[in-house]
Amino acid sequence: MKSIETFEEYKTAYQKSIDQPEEFWAEVAEDFTWQKKWDNVLKWDFDGPNVSWFDGAQVNLSENCIDRHLGTRANQVAIIWEPNDPNEPFKTLTYAQLHDQVCRFANVLKNLGVKKGDRVCIYLPMILEGAIAMLACARIGAVHSVVFAGFSAQSLSDRINDAECTLLLTADIVYRGDKKIELKKIVDEALLKTRCIKNVVVYNHRNSPINMQQGRDLWWSKLMADASNICPAVPIEAEDPLFILYTSGSTGKPKGVLHTTAGYMVYIGYTFKNVFNYQDGEVFCCTADIGWVTGHSYLVYAPLLNGATTIMFEGVPTFPDHGRFWDLIDKHKVNIFYTAPTAIRSLQAKGSDIFANKNLSSLRVLGSVGEPINEEAWHWYHENVGKKNCDIVDTWWQTETGGILISPIANVTPMKPAFASFPLPGVQLALMDDKGNEIQGNDVEGNLCLKFPWPGMARSVYGDHPRFKTTYFSTYKGYYFTGDGCKRDSDGYYRITGRVDDVINVSGHRIGTGELEDAIDEHGYVIESAVVGYPHDIKGQGIYAFVICDRHLDSHEQLQKEIREHVAKVVGPFARPDKIQIVPALPKTRSGKIMRRILRKIAENDISNLGDTTTLIDPSVVDKILAGRLATT
Ligand code: PRX
Repeated sequence: MKSIETFEEYKTAYQKSIDQPEEFWAEVAEDFTWQKKWDNVLKWDFDGPNVSWFDGAQVNLSENCIDRHLGTRANQVAIIWEPNDPNEPFKTLTYAQLHDQVCRFANVLKNLGVKKGDRVCIYLPMILEGAIAMLACARIGAVHSVVFAGFSAQSLSDRINDAECTLLLTADIVYRGDKKIELKKIVDEALLKTRCIKNVVVYNHRNSPINMQQGRDLWWSKLMADASNICPAVPIEAEDPLFILYTSGSTGKPKGVLHTTAGYMVYIGYTFKNVFNYQDGEVFCCTADIGWVTGHSYLVYAPLLNGATTIMFEGVPTFPDHGRFWDLIDKHKVNIFYTAPTAIRSLQAKGSDIFANKNLSSLRVLGSVGEPINEEAWHWYHENVGKKNCDIVDTWWQTETGGILISPIANVTPMKPAFASFPLPGVQLALMDDKGNEIQGNDVEGNLCLKFPWPGMARSVYGDHPRFKTTYFSTYKGYYFTGDGCKRDSDGYYRITGRVDDVINVSGHRIGTGELEDAIDEHGYVIESAVVGYPHDIKGQGIYAFVICDRHLDSHEQLQKEIREHVAKVVGPFARPDKIQIVPALPKTRSGKIMRRILRKIAENDISNLGDTTTLIDPSVVDKILAGRLATT
């Protein structure tokens, strides 16, 4: 694939992608292997919304990730697995070995009755089998739904039920840092609340004694040993579903964002090559979990589409010490390193002495994703990790966008710290004002929208297309609304300012405040709650919960503890509220709506001017809440 090498080339490519989008993407698509070429490049309307790319084509993502490279790089390492404990040996899979494993596992799926279109839930830790399973699903046209292995039994069963998965893939246990996660036990609990799962395939990762339910639970290794390694890639229609990935929004339960095959493949393959300025033979390390979209797009699929060597790291940045990332880069001679601001900030807080004996000279490009990166963290990353020699690409995108939409192009775009910079080719941005008009010119701020489709965009919410429309296409007619606020500075650079809806971003985990409130309200003593985010030095945002309790308690400590544990159990440990304030009432308008703006200001300690409170039923509530405010700074 020809890549963008100069800023002029970027501008030319961008202009062409706007003037002739179909020609532009058709040309990019030529670089992939198609079982049948398309009839139309693009058909769309944002009213339906209905979007299709490469309609009429047949293509197989697993073939493009693996088979396509076998002629030239069969013995090149495709995936390096770095274990949680650095004293354990790491593992590798060459492209030929990956092919063997994926074909075998695709046959395992078929032997268990999985057919094209069936949903397979993947609840696996960061082990090679996670990538193998995803690619095997793609090979036979099964739709994977990966659930992050930090989610609770309740979250897992909700996701299984919503997607009506018939097969579940998991492992016995996993260690992350010094924490043990008993995956199979969580699965057993989750399956008490599901009816659709027929079989569970269990990978014996740590040889831990677990319960195996006869007739339902099967061992991964046994099935693999019995399966053939011959499995031709099935022709998949361009718009056939590839995966479902659950993500949180302002309201309701997490939604199953649905991505389809051809457009997603073309988009992530193209953006990987260009954003990271990927050069043949390089080692790429993305620290995201496969349970999130970054893990899907830029740990597994896009690096393999480009024939890269990609690293899968099982552990955490602070185990056995806070030099682990840098040891990993040194050990595997990583060229491109892609991580989240929350990790950067937490390591920055521990100081820079750790770099003394680490050799990071292999690094060429650094990436950031998942939340706004503050300038201080940007400079620390640039100086200490990149030694001022590496471009940083601050990549803005979302589960729904499939791939990166706004980012500098490494070694091409002049960098501006903490700015995601410019839209990539094919990405048509719009900033909207309060009245729903597009804001023109520079040095402006508004709500970030897209006014034209791009190939990687989500096509629906699984099983609920009307929700797809109301969530993304109804706020501004004719536009996809991202939920983010954004500035465009005087040079036309874009800077994301954060969510403008009721979604909070805690250490890169996207959580709907409604989900947290539902979990808190389940406690027997709780009448009602309201959750907001507040700025947090390490996590980006912390969780502040205002809770009305139905009885007088001399001490709130026990209740706060129980609420925290309950949220961890219902949503997941990463969602534990940082602050829980017991309040006599919540600030409500006459129509019964909680005035979150006030609660946000209180949580942020921005209390000198709380704005107009006259529309509240009882404005004195605000003073009562202020009196018990918990320190956040
Ligand atoms: O608020 C934006 C933030 O993360 C949200 C998307 O979260 P999720 O779907 O979990 O995907 C995360 C990984 C792509 C966005 O709406 N976000 C993501 N990247 C950035 C960011 N905010 C600022 N700068 C970024 N580079």
